[in-house]
Amino acid sequence: MSVHLEAKKGEIAKTVLMPGDPLRAKYIAETFLEDVKQYNTVRNAFGYTGTYKGQEISVQGTGMGIPSLMIYGEELIQEYGVENLIRVGSAGALKKEVKIRDVVLAQGATTDSSIHRHIFNNQVDFAPIADFNLLRHSYDIGKEKGMAIRVGNVLSADRFYNEELDKQKLADYGIMAVEMEAAGLYSLAAKHNKRALALLTISDHILTGEETTSEERQTTFNDMMIIALEAALR
Ligand code: ADE
Repeated sequence: MSVHLEAKKGEIAKTVLMPGDPLRAKYIAETFLEDVKQYNTVRNAFGYTGTYKGQEISVQGTGMGIPSLMIYGEELIQEYGVENLIRVGSAGALKKEVKIRDVVLAQGATTDSSIHRHIFNNQVDFAPIADFNLLRHSYDIGKEKGMAIRVGNVLSADRFYNEELDKQKLADYGIMAVEMEAAGLYSLAAKHNKRALALLTISDHILTGEETTSEERQTTFNDMMIIALEAALR
């Protein structure tokens, strides 16, 4: 047991998929994994372990935002020996070329969170980046399957509602999309010398206001899940 997870040692796999929504974790476990066992219900942050094509994989709901994700990430690494942390989430597009239903692989994660300023005592602006091999394999799998896949920088925002943010400037600087967790995940992986990647489906377009239907969201989410699961096998 850790502070926020009630799993016993050995009940969580070395590779963990990390959706923000705990009900997504349930959906992923029920839809894509076999021989599933639920290992966590604390705070309704559902966690499951099962197998995908014979390999043990866990799915852990992380809640929204960097602080919540970092609680689960830290405990997964420190208490359960997790090596590969793969966020599967959604994001709002910023760059015009990024389309609804694209899958974005977050190569880097810019953030307005102050976590790195504190970690590095204001000496540097740390650049949180994805694990190269997870990124490379995910890109190759997406391309092989003919999916609309993009790679680049995202913004891990502290606030979902933020009228002050200069979104056009971020788009001009190549920020593809906004989500709320990847930067925390990447710096956690860096701290512990583990591997991390965030895969994001585009659910809405922040600058044009375009949105997906829930059916479209589900289809793209399933496509993204196949990329994440196949990348976990490589
Ligand atoms: N996830 C999906 N859409 C988002 C948005 N507009 N801002 C932050 N996170 C998101």
